[in-house]
Amino acid sequence: MNLLFAATELSPYAKTGGLADVLAALPAALRHRGHSVACVLPLFRSIRETLPGLRPTDLVLHAPLGTGTQSARIWEGRTDRDIRLFLVEKDEFFDRTYLYGPPGKDYADNASRFFFFSKIIPLLAQHIRPAPQILHLHDWHTGLVPAYIRAGHLPFRTVFTIHNLAYQGHFWGLDFPLTNLPPDYFSPAGIEFHQHINCLKAAIVFADRLTTVSPRYAQEIQTEEFGCGLADVLRLRKYKLTGILNGADYSRWDPRNDPALPVPYSASNLSGKQHAKDLLAKQLGWAPFRTPLFCAISRLTEQKGIPLLLEIRDELMKEEGRLVVLGEGDPELQERLRNLARELPDRIQVRIGFDEAFAHLLTAAADFLLMPSLFEPCGLTQLHALRYGTLPIAHETGGLADTILPWDPETRQGTGFLFQAPTASAFADAVKRAKTVYRDPPSLRAMRQAAMRQEFSWDRSAAAYEELYRQLAD
Ligand code: ADP
Ligand code: GLC
Repeated sequence: MNLLFAATELSPYAKTGGLADVLAALPAALRHRGHSVACVLPLFRSIRETLPGLRPTDLVLHAPLGTGTQSARIWEGRTDRDIRLFLVEKDEFFDRTYLYGPPGKDYADNASRFFFFSKIIPLLAQHIRPAPQILHLHDWHTGLVPAYIRAGHLPFRTVFTIHNLAYQGHFWGLDFPLTNLPPDYFSPAGIEFHQHINCLKAAIVFADRLTTVSPRYAQEIQTEEFGCGLADVLRLRKYKLTGILNGADYSRWDPRNDPALPVPYSASNLSGKQHAKDLLAKQLGWAPFRTPLFCAISRLTEQKGIPLLLEIRDELMKEEGRLVVLGEGDPELQERLRNLARELPDRIQVRIGFDEAFAHLLTAAADFLLMPSLFEPCGLTQLHALRYGTLPIAHETGGLADTILPWDPETRQGTGFLFQAPTASAFADAVKRAKTVYRDPPSLRAMRQAAMRQEFSWDRSAAAYEELYRQLAD
């Protein structure tokens, strides 16, 4: 099949989170299964600066934006996995320091930026050869595309993947003329949501198929608790909604072959894990230690449950525990974490920033990964941690519930520790259980080995998407 993926992130060139990893891995896995796949993204500054071999094409596309018309030149390139890439050049919108806005903020013209991008996608799809049969769209920035396809009677089928329901592309109704859609689209049956434009709702209403990134999250988002206001809208369309679990990119996340580690290791020979811990200690200015090391690698947002992590400091520190956090995001959470590290610098360190190599070393060095996310559509960090024998301690929600097998002391089986209520006491209790296993080396080894043998391959996800595309193309 011929597929066109449209999104705003692609690892390693433009990334704020897991969406970028999905765009890097899923097209490659689909191509491996025999499909022709191309991707389209805005030509963000970071892509222009980091992707070698980009070139402008002769194709210039024009789209209305409110009362005027705007043009964009299409650039072409290939990703490091040799996937064909189209880029929409519009410097006044995309040649900026950040993808969406400075930390914790949105650019004031995001409606214009992403409405325009969404208008260009179907125009591009009509020009490229082989002509795509299916447009696979990701998150709200491409949410209006299914509406444009419907309004223009274009011959493309659409799959829309919700990576995170909390981000909806919500703009006031006065911006509706910027969409250039027919007036009747601004109604409760269309893209309107409480007098506002809602790009994610547009996708939910008009896409042929909806997916989200784990089966559990597909169920959860139909409830008031997790539906972010759209539970009713989703429940009405559950016939076209499925949950397909993400994969882990084992070509980049494999402790047997990871340039960030001092000594490779595997499930049958775990000794390299201690070497990673020693190297991390050295880098952080700590003496080597043999006590439990907890880590968190995360965007610092409310979603990720960081306040819960701050609340259980005392439990983490018991029995000489240590904590290393790598993350960036909300300035207030960054400051609270920095203060935590200042209180106990020889036991807690916080690195603010985005650092891939450090993420790899930390994943290998730690004994436990903390993921108290209030909700988690899929989560990739726990998949990476499992492969490195680093046991997740996580809130039982979304993809965390679907990928972590809770430790059962009776059968001595499991790959991590889950807690049901997103409260500090439930979280602290799970940390206690983890420490019990840490004190029992045979159980710890068995858990690590079980974790490392879990398979969350992208090929399995790609096969599920392929099935969906086939149903649509028939
Ligand atoms: P989300 O997309 O909600 O942020 P995921 O777990 O799906 O969460 O994906 C996060 C991705 O970003 C993972 O690849 C993780 O390793 C990476 N990541 C997050 N924060 C950092 C950071 N500060 N430095 C390096 N990598 C990070
Ligand atoms: C979102 C979600 C995360 C998911 C990622 C990739 O950012 O927060 O859970 O893994 O998208 O699908």
